[in-house]
Amino acid sequence: MRRKPVERLVAEGGHGEGGALRRSLSMWQLTTISIGATLGTGIFVVLGEAAPLAGPAVAVSFVLAGCTALFSALSYAELAGSIPVSGSSYSYAYATMGELIAWVCGWCLVLEYGISVSAVAVGWGEYLNELLDGTFGVTLPGVVSAPPGEGGWINLPALAVILLAVVLLMGGAKESARINTVMVVVKIATLLLFCGIGFFGIKAGNYAPLAPLGVSGISAAAATLFFSYIGFDAASTAGEEARNAQRDLPRAIMLSLLIVTVLYCLVALVAVGAMPWQEFGHTHAALARIMERVTGLGLWSVVLAAGAVVAIASVVFAVLYGQTRILFAMSRDGLVPQVFAKVDERTGTPRANTLLVGAFCGILAATVPLGELANATSIGTLFAFALVNVAVVILRRTRPTMNRTFKVALFPVTPLLGFACCLWMMSSLPAVTWAVFGIWMAVGLAVYGLYGLRHSRLADRTGTGAGPGAGAGPAAPGAGPAGE
Ligand code: ALA
Repeated sequence: MRRKPVERLVAEGGHGEGGALRRSLSMWQLTTISIGATLGTGIFVVLGEAAPLAGPAVAVSFVLAGCTALFSALSYAELAGSIPVSGSSYSYAYATMGELIAWVCGWCLVLEYGISVSAVAVGWGEYLNELLDGTFGVTLPGVVSAPPGEGGWINLPALAVILLAVVLLMGGAKESARINTVMVVVKIATLLLFCGIGFFGIKAGNYAPLAPLGVSGISAAAATLFFSYIGFDAASTAGEEARNAQRDLPRAIMLSLLIVTVLYCLVALVAVGAMPWQEFGHTHAALARIMERVTGLGLWSVVLAAGAVVAIASVVFAVLYGQTRILFAMSRDGLVPQVFAKVDERTGTPRANTLLVGAFCGILAATVPLGELANATSIGTLFAFALVNVAVVILRRTRPTMNRTFKVALFPVTPLLGFACCLWMMSSLPAVTWAVFGIWMAVGLAVYGLYGLRHSRLADRTGTGAGPGAGAGPAAPGAGPAGE
């Protein structure tokens, strides 16, 4: 139950073992980190699975899923402006609900970031094959593009994209942000190109009837499409590398969500207008098929596949970045080994951390059929989002006069709605996903009991008897930007 005071969280910001992270990221770079982590498989692949569920109303499903994300994004924005550190919801939970819940949150973030990056890397390999097929008429043999158990020995493309991301991330946060921005520009341009060309293929008849499968179809599609919003919170993992974190983090989170929602709705409207919704189930790469259909030229599907390869690679890149920074914060608190908080003096990045996370995710992606574990990504994310909504309410009560650069509108209705939406979405996920999630959490609690509980730095300083009020005291002198 021991809580970490906000002032201590902020004061420790940036400091790792043997060095400090560099504050180099601008508001736009933070925004592109969030867009980088968000826009990828969801729009390029999952849209094709959601359209047969909702029919032409799939754009409404995007809006519904976006609303769930929006409520939680508002809570993220408030907390990121008040506690501008690197651990995202893990740190917010530590300041408000105590160490055990913070650990649970951090463990969920490993699902949202670490496991999902491995799953996304596998999807990247499939698009790479599509591109190779369209360009050279060749595909990688199954033996080197699938893990054991799925007809292969090793998934080399998935391993390669993760290794590439590791090498780029080790160069420095500023350099990584530049590369990320280029990839984000390419993927937005690809989707805009799709909208521009697809627009000429729209037939009004394809929109009628709008919701052939009713409201239940729309909400089932919304739950599936929630995956496409995962990642908007990635900017909140960069709090200790932002130039002006308190001002820029809330803006970056809100702006990225706005940009991806508008893009998703536009793409969905054009897609179901240009191809009858019943046909989406027959293809793996719906957007590429639509381009081909509208123009009559195979070249455009190659262009689309190339855009998707860049888009999904940028998700791998940004999400991997987020995972390293969350572990950095957890390691500084003693809940995971100290090696994750080591900062390289020359680059100002946690290089050992990046290598270890890359090796773990790379091996996972290359050799393990992720199956149900990957499906549990959404449930883990929703759980972390639900906790963030609770954290906003608690912090408003325990620290009412604290300096907040962004405040949730219509408090407490908005965070409570956010909390309810997350639970509702979680409840619509299948029982097997819940079972996998339960096992994941049980393993997490065992790891905490065996390691975190004994090595917690806060326990060292406060004594294990520190009660729930430990973080709610008056502001320490020199509290920094988050002080009252
Ligand atoms: N939102 C990310 C994607 O769609 C995970 O790929």
